[in-house]
Amino acid sequence: MNRILVACFSAGGVTAARAKELAAAADADYYEIQPAAPYSSADLNWRNPLARCNREWLRKQKPALSDTDAPVADHDVIFLAFPIWYYTAPLIVNGFLEQYDFAGKTIVCFATSGGSDMKKVAASLAPSAPGADLKIGWMLNGGVDAAAVEALLASLG
Ligand SMILES: Cc1cc2nc3c(=O)[nH]c(=O)nc-3n(C[C@H](O)[C@H](O)[C@H](O)COP(=O)(O)O)c2cc1C
Repeated sequence: MNRILVACFSAGGVTAARAKELAAAADADYYEIQPAAPYSSADLNWRNPLARCNREWLRKQKPALSDTDAPVADHDVIFLAFPIWYYTAPLIVNGFLEQYDFAGKTIVCFATSGGSDMKKVAASLAPSAPGADLKIGWMLNGGVDAAAVEALLASLG
């Protein structure tokens, strides 16, 4: 068991590919956050106002998780990776944080996007992880920089 867990939500696979590189660079365990009902490509078509993604977002509906046995308790640092949806983290990430006890743990956020940054992420996620030290890492659109991961690990002590 490693000290660090990379927990990743990825609807289209882009974030998952980066998160797996991140896990390799950090010598971390890897867990994928998945909805009980997987997203189809129609579900993700944000150009359609009636698509599932838009309905969930408008209603602030967190989709049910596929399982509730992520190995969170065994790790004290969680690298949380997700795509940016609507300029912030997808609601399933809030649901994941609310499912487990992150108090006393360090969470570092990473994301991929079509261009948006993570400026709104801390405000979105902090209420779902009371007692955690929630940090913003960096965007993974350009790949994983092993030296940056090393420096981050050193800063976490
Ligand atoms: C519902 C939805 C909302 C999105 N909102 C944004 C956004 O606000 N800003 C942005 O830059 N990209 C946005 N994107 C694009 C994704 O962040 C981007 O394609 C990401 O790399 C997808 O990662 P994935 O393949 O792991 O799901 C959105 C995508 C979806 C499906």
